[in-house]
Amino acid sequence: MNWTPPKLFLTAITSTAVAMATAPVSAHAEAGSPIYGITIPDGYRQWEMIAPAEEAAPLNELRVVLGNPIAIKAIRNSTLPFPDGTILAKLAWKRVPSPEFAPASIPGTATTVQIMVKNLKKYAATGGWGFGRFINGKPADEAQHQSCFACHQALVKNHDYVFTRLAP
Ligand code: HEC
Repeated sequence: MNWTPPKLFLTAITSTAVAMATAPVSAHAEAGSPIYGITIPDGYRQWEMIAPAEEAAPLNELRVVLGNPIAIKAIRNSTLPFPDGTILAKLAWKRVPSPEFAPASIPGTATTVQIMVKNLKKYAATGGWGFGRFINGKPADEAQHQSCFACHQALVKNHDYVFTRLAP
């Protein structure tokens, strides 16, 4: 019998395929994300790092998760659930070998910027979190946004739907 990948897995792969086909990410979204109306927050590139991450083949991505000051304070104090006003940003790039030293991996083309915003009242139906995925600064389609909460809920509900822990 052939292995059938779970639906969430397929959604992630499809989304990434779309992301890969596009140019680097720009600083601002023109419109909000479908379902949630999230835009790319100003100044997110200056936020503190929570942790880096790497995704194996076939995605081959380097990621870094950043948090606004409310997020950083909460994560340092192990405050759960995260308070309203928390914003988490995940930046992703293709993982490529360094041209100067091949065993080292460095960021290649930017693929996606993903945002999670905590607002218990506004996003009550999705654990208090609103989601946005941006490709080249523009929000991805509604189908991709249907997948966000499902995966985060299935795997990290016990950590307020957030995967990333503060890097030691
Ligand atoms: C198939 C599972 C899956 C889906 C679908 C998914 N995510 Fe995630 N997400 C993860 C994992 C795993 C991480 C941890 C960091 C990493 O490995 O890149 C993560 C991390 C994040 C983070 C950093 C905070 C955290 O939880 O660690 C944000 C922001 C985020 N995702 C946004 C989104 C958005 C927006 C969507 C929908 C467009 C989405 N995610 C869909 C699995 C998923």
